[in-house]
Amino acid sequence: MSAFYRGLRPLLFALPPEYAHTLTLTGLKWFNALGDYREGEDHVLEQEIWGITFANPFGMAAGFDKDGKVMDGVLKLGFGFTEIGTLTPRPQGGNVRPRLFRLPEYEALINHLGFNNKGQIEALHRLAIFRAHPPGTRARIVGVNIGANKDSDDWLDDYETGAARFAAMADYLSLNISSPNTPGLRDLQADNQIDELMQRVRKAAPETPIMVKIDPDMTPDEACAIAEAAMQNRIEGLIIANTTINRDGVTGHQFAEQEGGLSGRPLFDKSTDLLREVYDASKGKLTLIGVGGVATPEHAYEKICAGASLVQLYTGLVYGGPGLINRLRHELVELLRRDGHASINSAIGSKV
Ligand code: FNR
Repeated sequence: MSAFYRGLRPLLFALPPEYAHTLTLTGLKWFNALGDYREGEDHVLEQEIWGITFANPFGMAAGFDKDGKVMDGVLKLGFGFTEIGTLTPRPQGGNVRPRLFRLPEYEALINHLGFNNKGQIEALHRLAIFRAHPPGTRARIVGVNIGANKDSDDWLDDYETGAARFAAMADYLSLNISSPNTPGLRDLQADNQIDELMQRVRKAAPETPIMVKIDPDMTPDEACAIAEAAMQNRIEGLIIANTTINRDGVTGHQFAEQEGGLSGRPLFDKSTDLLREVYDASKGKLTLIGVGGVATPEHAYEKICAGASLVQLYTGLVYGGPGLINRLRHELVELLRRDGHASINSAIGSKV
């Protein structure tokens, strides 16, 4: 952890978590205005996916920048891409506060935010401005994570709406059907709904890469069934995984019984095991994004060896600070070279 964040973290942690998050977003806006602090890219980490060149595999996971307010600020931390959202067709306030809890002993968080966001139209305008003013020459890759309004009559319709709205602006779409904080949403992963969802979204966004974000609490067979449906419906891949409703590893903590999804280190093994199973079953035919509990370069490397082409994180940054991304990038290069990989591509799925 950098000396800067070692000083800042106790101040941020003295604040309620959601307030600290809002302050962080404001800080990133300023950071963006002040300049570009990315360090040079190492070509070992570069890869082409869907015709897009990713300078490195690290992405900001959904939920951090729900409304797309700090896309450039996030990218300037060194991320290869960022995912905004979850965005619902209409603005939504989310669940009653407090709804975000820190478990520092476990480097974990529990949230039951419930898709609080300003709605797709506002974010769409922001993304259009972002696309119209490309500063510099670096690729600015933005995925858009879409969801359904809690009170909507037809959830599948909401996904179709989001896909149509963002099809031309997003580098990829991510369908969040795995949040534990909208009761019933995870049922969309069941085989009687998933095909229809995939078909409708595919039709609404025929040219845009589509990823389906799944939960880590399903069995490997259930996850592989979704992977199979993705292959049949020409969906590009899966994001594995969202937060868990399980409390393994944190039982007894004062916040362990809080409702919602657990993220951070306790999620690492479970989400990586599921990733490995899906990679094995889909034989490399899908693009997989590994997410859950990444806090060190070794974690990121393990996700890649388990089949992830790209790696996202959120909670690791809360505990490790913004300098973590440059560290992950540098040390991942060393790990790849140590094992004789001339490029990240040869490491993907190498330990499945
Ligand atoms: C999330 N996550 C999330 N995921 C998603 O698809 N849409 C969302 O709106 C959110 N919101 C959200 C808020 C907060 C506070 C957290 C901590 C997480 C889940 C996130 O993208 C990721 O899948 C998990 O957090 C696991 O990764 P980490 O945090 O262990 O790196």
